[in-house]
Amino acid sequence: MLDDNRFPVPADVRSRSWIDDEKYQEMYRQSIEDPEAFWEREGMRLDWIKPYNNVKDVSFDANDLHIRWFYDGTLNVSANCLDRHLETRGDQVAIIWEGDDPSEHRDVTYRELHEEVCKFANVLKGQGIGKGDRVTIYMPMIVEATVAMLACARIGAVHSVVFGGFSPDALAGRINDCDSHAVITSDEGVRGGKHIPLKANVDEALTHCPDCATCIVVRHTGGDIQWVEGRDVWYHEAMEKASADCPPVEMQAEDPLFILYTSGSTGQPKGVLHTSGGYLVYAAMTHQYVFDYHDGDIYWCTADVGWITGHSYIVYGPLANGATTLMFEGVPSYPDASRFWQVCEKHKVNIFYTAPTAIRALMREGEEFVKRTDRSSIRLLGSVGEPINPEAWSWYHKVVGDERCPIVDTWWQTETGGILITPLPGATDLKPGSATRPFFGVKPLMVDHDGNPLEGACEGNLCMEDSWPGQMRTVYGDHERFIQTYFTTYPGRYFTGDGARRDEDGYYWITGRVDDVINVSGHRMGTAEVESALVAHEKVAEAAVVGYPHDLKGQGIYVYVTLKAGIEPTDGLRGELVKWVRHEIGPIATPDLLQWAPGLPKTRSGKIMRRILRKIAEDDFGNLGDTSTLADPAVVDDLIAHRMNRK
Ligand code: PRX
Repeated sequence: MLDDNRFPVPADVRSRSWIDDEKYQEMYRQSIEDPEAFWEREGMRLDWIKPYNNVKDVSFDANDLHIRWFYDGTLNVSANCLDRHLETRGDQVAIIWEGDDPSEHRDVTYRELHEEVCKFANVLKGQGIGKGDRVTIYMPMIVEATVAMLACARIGAVHSVVFGGFSPDALAGRINDCDSHAVITSDEGVRGGKHIPLKANVDEALTHCPDCATCIVVRHTGGDIQWVEGRDVWYHEAMEKASADCPPVEMQAEDPLFILYTSGSTGQPKGVLHTSGGYLVYAAMTHQYVFDYHDGDIYWCTADVGWITGHSYIVYGPLANGATTLMFEGVPSYPDASRFWQVCEKHKVNIFYTAPTAIRALMREGEEFVKRTDRSSIRLLGSVGEPINPEAWSWYHKVVGDERCPIVDTWWQTETGGILITPLPGATDLKPGSATRPFFGVKPLMVDHDGNPLEGACEGNLCMEDSWPGQMRTVYGDHERFIQTYFTTYPGRYFTGDGARRDEDGYYWITGRVDDVINVSGHRMGTAEVESALVAHEKVAEAAVVGYPHDLKGQGIYVYVTLKAGIEPTDGLRGELVKWVRHEIGPIATPDLLQWAPGLPKTRSGKIMRRILRKIAEDDFGNLGDTSTLADPAVVDDLIAHRMNRK
């Protein structure tokens, strides 16, 4: 069996690494036995305005739920990412920006980034934005996206970055949910040579956002846009007039830093709230140890800043550590499937962090695209977002890493703020497909369906027994939902929503979501969100959405639709509904397969039996389990007869 292979730590990797196995064991023990003392030391990696005396105050009890770290300390996150580096590394490159067009690139030093952030912070202040105000950022992968985030942090405004692939409707929902009065965007984005009309999307979204009175626009492509006088402001014009002097605002450790919307098992995305001190300590520390980051390394995470991976491992972690972080505007396949490796060669990338879905797509294109490039600068590879299948792991290891580079398979979530389960390159033997062991301070707990703790090698649901500083603090505007979602399934524990296996070495193997969330190309999607988009269509009576295994995307979106009486199911309507979902949510929610369902399998009390729908979508209907509780068992035969995914 391929996945039983074990890859020991290479000697050269161990000798240069921060943490070898002995140190891992020792530090892990300390972090669990005396978390206060452990984190008191780790917290000092940041510059505090007022040092903390209190490290941790946590209760996972639903009746008294609270999570506070370093809570009597004060700091400013942007000062930690910029100002404190100026003396020692002002002229070092902070951001290497690589455009979609391979002929475009830009280096930004810490001094330049600091100046741009200070100016933009003053621009925001000039628009009346201050501490605690929410600001929505809807941007392509350009330097100004990072500037906008750090400028918010500088003045204590709370940013909410919305991925540029979301539709105007999805954007409007997120602007309104957190009551953002300003949005920052650019004329257009560019990906794979295609222009994305970001400003036009904002214009459409803002027709539903009466309180959002300011739109700041970066001129990026120079494409044509509409202009609303009194509301729209050109970034470059405002920056010309702005002063470069902007002292960072003193923030409490527990003041909010950002909101990031993520999908859950209900139709409404949740505003995951992260705060300042604990989040930054955790992002910086994991970035240093998991990627074994050393001064001078060139580090590249291919995520988009619209996701948590971009927040923690393009922006906050690397910049807090004074790293050189690469920001890539484009896609892996443009101009051709060699692009990632050409960028590695061009910028002498040492640490490369991407998602299994990209690896699988590139694997399909063949080795030649990789082999023609020089990847000798790469020392470490990383993976995030979904389970990495052993074939993709092997290809990544052999073809991309020439069997020299360890792969850190990092498991974490928007909610966790940073990596929780991962190998450390100098410490952990690798097993392809396993995220291996918990990071410092992380106390995983496996439970069975009823919440009974499981010991030793086992399979079950993954919880966390205690907090870590990067943990989310609440769902913005809905603390009750935070408690209900994460702390009531297994009382007193944080429930991740993931299933996992733990092997005899204590290694974790994440098996995927056990709730109604699916993972499509590493993007998290609530099946209920897609369902509500579908039923909003005038011809749809009912819809049920499930995931099914997909060779490239990990999971594909399988949709069952019941039409209203009298509506004919045609191929034209099928296309219309697929387009409709893309329009309602965005291209990442595009259904892969759509089956007409005259009826859905329901219990007598009207509950849809998704287990059955999942099995049919997986083309695995031989063993549907007990269907005797169905109101109308004949429905199932019809669904099987017309199933879309035939192997
Ligand atoms: O199911 C797990 C999967 O992605 C989910 C979190 O998604 P999101 O909040 O969008 O964050 C993604 C980036 C951190 C998890 O509940 N997941 C993430 N990383 C892995 C993973 N599944 C298996 N292995 C991973 N390394």
